[in-house]
Amino acid sequence: MNITLTINTNKHDIDCAPSETLLSAVRRLGYYGVKFGDEQGLSGADTVLLDGKPINAGSMLAAQAEGHKIVTIEGLGQHPEQGWKKTDGLHPLQLAFVETGAIQCGYCTPAQILAAKALLDENLNPSEEQVREAIAGVLCRCTGYLKPVQAVLKAAAFLRGDEPVNWDSVNWDLGSWSDQPTNDQPAGSPGEQFANVMTRPKVVVTPQTQTYQTVGKPEKKVDAVKLVQGKPAFTADIELRGMLYARVLRSPYAHARIKQIDTSQARELKGVAAVLTWQDIPRVIYSTAGQSDPIPGPLDAFSLDNKVRFVGDRVAMVAAETPEIAEKALSLIDVEYEILDAILDSREAMDSNAPRIHDEPEFVNFADSNPARNLAAEIRIDIGDVEKGFKEADEIFEAEYAVPKVQQAHIEPHVCVTYWDEDDRLVIRTSTQVPFHVRRMLAPVLNLPVKRIRVIKPRIGGGFGGKQEVLMEDVPAHLTIATGRPVIYEYTREEEFTGARSRHPMKIKMKTGVKRDGTITANEMYALSDTGAYGCHALTVTGNTGHKAMALYVGDGQYRKSPNIRFYADVVYTNTPPAGAFRGYGVPQGYWPVERHMEKIARALSLDPIAFRLRNAVRAGEYHPFSTAWNEGREPRPEIINTVGLEQCVAQGKAAIGWDSKYGNEEWRQSSIVNRQHLHWHKVEVSSIRKGIGVAMVMQGTAIPYLDMGGASIKMNDDGSFNLLVGATDLGTGSDTVLAQMAAEVLGVPIEDMITYSSDTDFTPFDKGAYASSTTYISGTAAVKAAQIVAERIRVRAAMMLKLDKHEDIKLANRQAIAPDGRTVSLAEIALNSLHKENQEQIMGVASYVSPVSPPPFAAQFAEVTVDVETGAVTVDKLVMAVDSGVIVNPLTASGQIEGGMTQALGYAVCEEMRYDEKGNAIERDLDRYHIFRADEMPELETIFVETFEPSHPFGVKAVAEIPMDGVAPAVGNAILDAAGVNVDENPTTPERVWRALKNK
Ligand code: FES
Repeated sequence: MNITLTINTNKHDIDCAPSETLLSAVRRLGYYGVKFGDEQGLSGADTVLLDGKPINAGSMLAAQAEGHKIVTIEGLGQHPEQGWKKTDGLHPLQLAFVETGAIQCGYCTPAQILAAKALLDENLNPSEEQVREAIAGVLCRCTGYLKPVQAVLKAAAFLRGDEPVNWDSVNWDLGSWSDQPTNDQPAGSPGEQFANVMTRPKVVVTPQTQTYQTVGKPEKKVDAVKLVQGKPAFTADIELRGMLYARVLRSPYAHARIKQIDTSQARELKGVAAVLTWQDIPRVIYSTAGQSDPIPGPLDAFSLDNKVRFVGDRVAMVAAETPEIAEKALSLIDVEYEILDAILDSREAMDSNAPRIHDEPEFVNFADSNPARNLAAEIRIDIGDVEKGFKEADEIFEAEYAVPKVQQAHIEPHVCVTYWDEDDRLVIRTSTQVPFHVRRMLAPVLNLPVKRIRVIKPRIGGGFGGKQEVLMEDVPAHLTIATGRPVIYEYTREEEFTGARSRHPMKIKMKTGVKRDGTITANEMYALSDTGAYGCHALTVTGNTGHKAMALYVGDGQYRKSPNIRFYADVVYTNTPPAGAFRGYGVPQGYWPVERHMEKIARALSLDPIAFRLRNAVRAGEYHPFSTAWNEGREPRPEIINTVGLEQCVAQGKAAIGWDSKYGNEEWRQSSIVNRQHLHWHKVEVSSIRKGIGVAMVMQGTAIPYLDMGGASIKMNDDGSFNLLVGATDLGTGSDTVLAQMAAEVLGVPIEDMITYSSDTDFTPFDKGAYASSTTYISGTAAVKAAQIVAERIRVRAAMMLKLDKHEDIKLANRQAIAPDGRTVSLAEIALNSLHKENQEQIMGVASYVSPVSPPPFAAQFAEVTVDVETGAVTVDKLVMAVDSGVIVNPLTASGQIEGGMTQALGYAVCEEMRYDEKGNAIERDLDRYHIFRADEMPELETIFVETFEPSHPFGVKAVAEIPMDGVAPAVGNAILDAAGVNVDENPTTPERVWRALKNK
């Protein structure tokens, strides 16, 4: 049918099927700012304005939109400079999103801005509550909503004509190590905070930071202007001539052998280009875990197999002219299964009569994996003499805990486009955290040499570890090989829940020996970890559970010198969707039991819970206890921890949450007004309300020492600007920005002179990818080293141009080389000289870096909750995180990481959980059943950075990305104990679990 769509100021006559959605139509017309997030519009990524009202384009037929005025992000504003043509520039909302740091991955940003525009078009003076309600329909998995809300309020102020605020002149709340917080009042009340429109985290700075030009400054993200315009930056934002659409037939059974597959009807369907089953492609065993070579885990997966091992496992793949034809083809594939007994409970996996999930002869063992026992990995780590430590204890505390399976739920689903280029090389354009691992690992699977594969990573719409997996790139690649045509494969939201990866669920036992004075004499953890049907990251995730969570408390006195720690784990296969990497990488699973256990011990011994923890916590100058005993299956390398800012984190966090006036204060605990005045619709007065406060202390790691490598190259251009090429992948974390900041600092230029590109396996240097909290530390050091090489060449040339004997004392600053005598030559003059005039050379540098250490960041996490002791309902009112992540390169992007991480961790604490019925069918299959926090449901968030200067990094940084995942859940669990006097040892702390605990009190 022919229809006319009016989009922004354009009229489009299009031919569309009656069933075509508005989302499909607008994207087909090139309005790529409208995104796919899910089929039901629950993510809100597909928001457009229809006659000024926000609607979900994926839930509306294109034909229904005829005659209406449609506005997409492309209709708002543009970059002001378009060569000789000037535009009106960005819309105030777009500008505000850029300036407040409201953009992380940017996938939800166009939708958030449009939803906000609809509000501001009607109300230029909205309250915070109204802003939150207006954008509540657009889910963001990255930001925690704090900065987007501030951006909308800021834009509203601008549009009202309020006195403009020069944001660059607004002082950050900078403290110093010598300033101890003196009271226990929060830094600003919520009302004050939002009157200011822009909340900035407190940064307790190191002296070193104060001398930097751009490092340590809240620079705007280098990709923000692109993302705020909805430019076609993401994997799916491309259309290739003759592109086919892939779909995968998935198993309805948890465990079955495929006896026969009849694909004849599907192949005959008009518009079907290929149907592939296990009989059509090479049988190559591999691991889908995106890790360095050799993969530290078993090889146990095929692209397609004659056996299925979970509901959702692959059976066949199809490529067709349209998604609808591909779907239809799936329904025409006839499969005969032999149904096998399934294991759905990890506790039964190692039973002697349990069915064997991996009986394929090609299975490749790694270390202690044993498919005959359904064992993907076994970990046995003993540090010191644990049994002796238990004998020396006055009290032994034992308890069992459980942590759930949860989903990364990045708003951009997994998506990949493949095609042959003109040189018969296979191009894989994919939303991945690990482009170089994708290339290396898929080469044998596709029967192509590495050199005939090029992997391009465009922008990533969130990853959180879910894209540290070579999860689905093989599907379109096989189909491109089969058809010779470009193929796009984009996961449905249901596939994200049934056919992607998740956090490993675990059942954990703790046993701790303690002297009456609070000295820990021995600490033991056993984890039964469920890897699901495949062993992706099985060893390394679960190893991390002990390596990070059990390393924090070493004991005191003689025990501090020689800690007694044991961590044993079995990682078992079950017939459930595989677990994998998820931000925190096993550590959140460890801190739930450790920090719940520490709280119980402190209370049982009538010790102050904070003093008890600090007494036993590892200190600067001590060995990381696990570094002496374990190294992911490789030789251990003992490592000393140089910087620990934990005590200062505690002092800052206590002051911010008001710990001293609330902890143990029965009057406060019984106070019936929920402390969220700024969100007044939550104000309640109910006699069954109890308030509580909780703490957790955590440590993470920074990169994987002696293994993971990052590379960077820098090239100088004619005008004195630089191309910075990195193999690192910015998932929305801001890594492109912080790498550019560090390189710019060395080269003495503003960040806008760094043109950053990441990543393409043909053009950028190798990088292991974005995981293990390593990019700022590892790839950042590589960028600094490359910049130092370039800076050296610039100094040499400047000395030549200024006729100086020595170049070493020349300084680079303000786009100039400055001689000791004060004479200067600009970088643009140096560039022109080097490229065109004398002794011509391309000034450039390439460097790489592998770290010998993994310096841990530390944090104190505080939670304030309200519990309804009648219903078990828990409301988290406030989260405070004080974190020692070394020097903070960019407080804007780093605080965004903390806010977003705390929000994701909040879901882990109170509501997110993936469950299965008795046949292994997923109960949570969409963003309705699987609830992630919306803008109008958020607690107050506060971030404090306590800087230390980590000597192993040129700018003193440690990691920031993963640590916010670790402490929220136990802090909330401890606050529930404080409020209601009950222990909930299994998270999430749903109302049902809390209610049951209250009933059993
Ligand atoms: S910035 Fe919102 S989903 Fe990534």
